[in-house]
Formats: sequence, C-alpha cells, structure tokens
Amino acid sequence: MSFDLILFGGTGDLAWRKIMPALFQAFRHGSLPADGRIVGVARDDLSDDQYRALIKSRFDSVELAKRPSDEEFARFAQLLGYLRMDLSNPADYSRLAERLAERPADVVVMYLATAPGLFTTVCEQIAVAGLNGPTTRVVLEKPLGHDLASNRAINKTVRSVLKEEQIFRIDHYLGKPSVQNLFALRFGNSLFEPLWHRDHIANIQITISEELGVEKRGAFYDSTGALRDMVQNHALQLLCAVAMEPPINAHADAIRDEKLKVLRSLKPWTPETLSQHVIRGQYAAGSIDGEAVPAYRSAPGVNPESRTETFVALRTEIANWRWAGVPFYIRTGKRLAERDAHIEVNFRPIPHAIFNSPQSGNAGNRLIINLQPKDGLELHLLAQGADKRHGRATQNLEPVQLDLDFDKRFGAGRVGAYERLLLDVIDGRLNLFVRSDEQEAAWRWVEPILDRWSQDSTPPRPYAAGTWGPSAASAMIAKDGYCWSEES
Ligand code: BG6
Repeated sequence: MSFDLILFGGTGDLAWRKIMPALFQAFRHGSLPADGRIVGVARDDLSDDQYRALIKSRFDSVELAKRPSDEEFARFAQLLGYLRMDLSNPADYSRLAERLAERPADVVVMYLATAPGLFTTVCEQIAVAGLNGPTTRVVLEKPLGHDLASNRAINKTVRSVLKEEQIFRIDHYLGKPSVQNLFALRFGNSLFEPLWHRDHIANIQITISEELGVEKRGAFYDSTGALRDMVQNHALQLLCAVAMEPPINAHADAIRDEKLKVLRSLKPWTPETLSQHVIRGQYAAGSIDGEAVPAYRSAPGVNPESRTETFVALRTEIANWRWAGVPFYIRTGKRLAERDAHIEVNFRPIPHAIFNSPQSGNAGNRLIINLQPKDGLELHLLAQGADKRHGRATQNLEPVQLDLDFDKRFGAGRVGAYERLLLDVIDGRLNLFVRSDEQEAAWRWVEPILDRWSQDSTPPRPYAAGTWGPSAASAMIAKDGYCWSEES
C-alpha cells in the first residue's frame, strides 16, 4: 500500500517532538508501508535536503534508544520531503495538489499539527483544491477549538468537506498501551466487571501530573490552560474508559457510543459545585529534583500577570444507575512533585470488621491502573500481619499488593501512542479516535467552569513548583472522607 502523509506545521514543536520520532519508530519496526512519502509543510523557505537536515538535528534531543543512526536516518530521509506553503493562499494548495499528483497514493493523510485557528482554513482550501477525495484522511490535533462554539464551527467545516470516517481527531492518551490495557482489563476478564459499580466502588481518582513546566509553549499555554489542555480531552477520555458500559463489540462506533453516554451523564454543574468542587492553581517558584525552577509567570511567552491555571482538581459524579453517588476526582497539573499518571479505583470497606484494620487513608482494597512512567496494575489487599520477632500471626491486618509490570511482561519497547495512532490512521482504524459528538459533549461540560473563571476576580491558587498543587485540592477530597493516593 502507498501513502502520502502531509504534515502541516512540519517545523513545529509537535512535529519534531512527537510525530517524526513516532514515524521513525514505525519505519524502524518495519510497520510503515514502504511506499510512503512524508511531506513537511510550513512557511519557512527550505529545500527537501534542508528539511531533512533540520529533522535530523532535532533527533539529537530524542532519547538515545529511539535515535536513528546516520545510516538509519539516511534511509528514513528518503521518505521525507518539504513544501513551503502559506496556508491562507489558495495557489499554494494547487502546488500541493501537483506534488500529490506526481505519484497518486492509495491513502493521503493530511495531518494538521498547526494552531487550531488554521484548521477551518486548511480544510476549506483542501476541498477547493479537490484534495478531499475518498482516499483522503485528516488528522486533527487537540485542542479542537477554544470552547463549544469554536469546536462546533471547526467540526461543521470539516464535516462539510469530508465524511466522519475520514476525520481522525487525535487524543494521544487513547493510544497509550496502558489505556488499551484498561479496556482489556475491563472487557477481556470476568473478574472485575461484577464489582465495577456503585455497590462496591467508593470513589475513583484520575491523576495526570507532570514535572515539566510549559517549556517553549508559553504563549500557546497561556491562552489555553490546564482545563482545555488536559481535562477536556485526556482526563475525560480516561474517565470514559473507566466508567463506560461494555460496548457491544470492538468497532469504533460501538466504543464511541458508550463513551458518549458517559460524557452525557456527567452531572451538570451548579453554582455550588462550581465553587466547592473545582480548584484551580498556578505554580509559583519552587524546586524539582533539587533544582530551583522559576514561577509560571516568568516563563517565556507568558503574561507576567497571567491568571491561567496550570493545575486543576475537580470532583464530579456520573448520573446513571452504575455510578450514582460515586465521586470521580480528576487532578492534573504542570510542575508537580512527580511525573505520574494513574487511575485509582477505591473499593468500599468491608461491611463488618473482625480484624484490626489500618485506619488511615485509602487503606482498603484498591486497584491502581498505572499509565506512566510505569505501565501496570497494582491490586492492594489486606493480609494477616505477623509479629516480626516471633513470626506469630497478629490480629492486625497489613496492606500488601499484587503488582503487575506490563513493561517487564511485554517489553518496554512496545509501540508508543503516536506510533500506534499514526499507523491506525494509515490503516483507516478509527477505534482510538474521538468522534465529534464526544468532543462536543466534553466541551459542553467544561464550559460552565470556563465561564465561572472568566467572571471570578480571585486568581488561581499559587502552589510551589515541585509539590502536589494547592492544599485546597486535598481539602476538597478530605470533605468526602478520602485522600489522594500519595497521601494514603
Ligand atoms: C499534551 C499537552 O496533549 O499532553 C501537554 O498539550 C502535555 O501540555 C502532554 O505535556 C502530556 O502528554 P504525556 O504523554 O507526556 O503525558
């Protein structure tokens, strides 16, 4: 099979940080169809060779195991080309059409790794140039829009020129092996599903914490913030994966129908829940791994008086039979104590105690689905403790855990999220991509939070870089009698 991948935003941050390394890995693994062309598109005046040299130099900052040797890069570079385009100029799309017509491919992927403000223009112009035929697939990066109205406007334009099955809205969290394992855990095993509801589960916590700050994306991030950057998409997709009903089969629409139902069942916000159950924070100066790090407001590209949130913690509920009354907590932020993403499912305590159980924290049974840095499952149980000196059993129960390390079991070199998703686009598999109605439902749910913040005169709560965020996040969960995983 032959393919053309046109990478709009071909010199941008995303192109060299995620997309090119993923394409190279697919090439190295032999899974990229050999008859392929990858054409970077940007405004810069570059020849094909200059573009190849630029991408090669960028590979120097990729982790060693994923870096190509000179010989490997030389082979990969044969797929690479470059086209200078002004994305608002129709004549430039005709030049693109000419380039594509030189060798018609079975599949043409238009990857929009540009600012979302350009999505509608690019899609319209692709259609004007006649490039929206049945072999075309468009990949749209998140955030798709800034709010519900802009998201709808983009979806409307894209759908006016392409069919839904040609549109691949990417959320790279869905491509993580650990997220696919969550589907396998829930729908490929009989053990947990009978327990997976309000009678047995007390609460579910989703944490995505990053040590990194905003790096070179200050200007973008300052107009985006953590709610739009992480909650509207990644965190809500994880929530769907953990809370959805079993789909009738593994086809894209069956899965997406069930995720949509979860998003539609999220409890609507009230003035009270907005003020009590949503905490926003912004990092101040602090230290990470013993190194001093400056405040968010002094990052390049960020307004020195910025009120953009770099941390969000919230509590919600899913109003359906399975989950009524079970709190779901979401927490994400930049410059936190650790890079860590996990889902913690806390089971209800036993109905009648005959042993002395540990009293503190989330001390009972819990299942932790680790997404990163490690990929695995931890099942926390209580066992009979033994007296250390005499080895005699005591009346006290002690926490123990079953620990499954998927990196060890399946090899740490498994296909990464972008690599998996890019190959899915080329193969036309939509399972791990987001449908427009899901996206709209997610925007509809976050919008009241954005509205409230825009009217709120109090700034985000400061937290020192290198901590777990503002203490108000712990106070919020403590009101329900629970605590975050690292506090238990
Ligand atoms: C991106 C966000 O979607 O996800 C970034 O825009 C964030 O701000 C990144 O750093 C996190 O992804 P990962 O895979 O490193 O957890």
